[in-house]
Amino acid sequence: MEVIISETAEASSSAAARVVARQVRENPESVLGLATGSTPLKLYRELIRLHREEDLDFSRVTTFNLDEYVGLENDHPQSYHAFMHENLFRHINIPAPQIHIPDGMTPDIPMFCEGYERRIADAGGIDLQVLGIGSDGHIGFNEPTSSFASRTRIKTLAQPTVEDNARFFDGEVSRVPRHCITMGIGTIMSARRVVMLAFGEGKAAAVAAAVEGPVAALMPASILQHHPDAKFFADEAAASQLKLGDYYRWVYAGKPEWQRDA
Ligand code: F6R
Repeated sequence: MEVIISETAEASSSAAARVVARQVRENPESVLGLATGSTPLKLYRELIRLHREEDLDFSRVTTFNLDEYVGLENDHPQSYHAFMHENLFRHINIPAPQIHIPDGMTPDIPMFCEGYERRIADAGGIDLQVLGIGSDGHIGFNEPTSSFASRTRIKTLAQPTVEDNARFFDGEVSRVPRHCITMGIGTIMSARRVVMLAFGEGKAAAVAAAVEGPVAALMPASILQHHPDAKFFADEAAASQLKLGDYYRWVYAGKPEWQRDA
């Protein structure tokens, strides 16, 4: 994993947006894997700016979102369909048929999940996957003990995740759905490149465990240590528990200019 520490979440997000933009410019038919939640919001804002001001073209891009709550209609304000439309898709020029988000209302979840994997494969696989990290180390909604070989399927949300996400449901834990459809860890690991983001002190313990701890199913994000092209963008607060913070800064600063994103 390449760890890139920036002063602020804004700086980290701009750097991550440059990686995504370069991917799309180099291959206008890129397949992007996308995340929801608070973490990628600034990244999406920067992509929207690049689209408006610097002609970043999404017209041939295909997207697959990581996850969706089971039982929420697409137009429910807390659904990830609504989130993505509001925070990215309605501001850029990606045609609706090229957008894929798991359907939380599907009557046949196993069949839907199989079809989602097939559609990813038919699109040529994911070129670049954007990820956040849960305070319990989850990626997508692959909670601790998820199989590293897992593919898209239904999962039960862990208690820390339900509590973390209650902020999107007026703070009411009882309103947070208990189940979701999520890409698996195997699905995520099949992406050619991974761009992971983490901001704020609340993520510091998970970041340290994922980057410097043992690779273990109890810390799903730690599997990214085995990914051949994973960049981890963290702000100072999220990086604060890393033992080797100075080492990552040194390595990054020593890279040739053209290889740097931040
Ligand atoms: C969202 C997702 C989750 C979030 C994680 C962090 O699609 O898959 O793994 O990335 O829960 O959430 P935030 O960014 O809200 O802290």
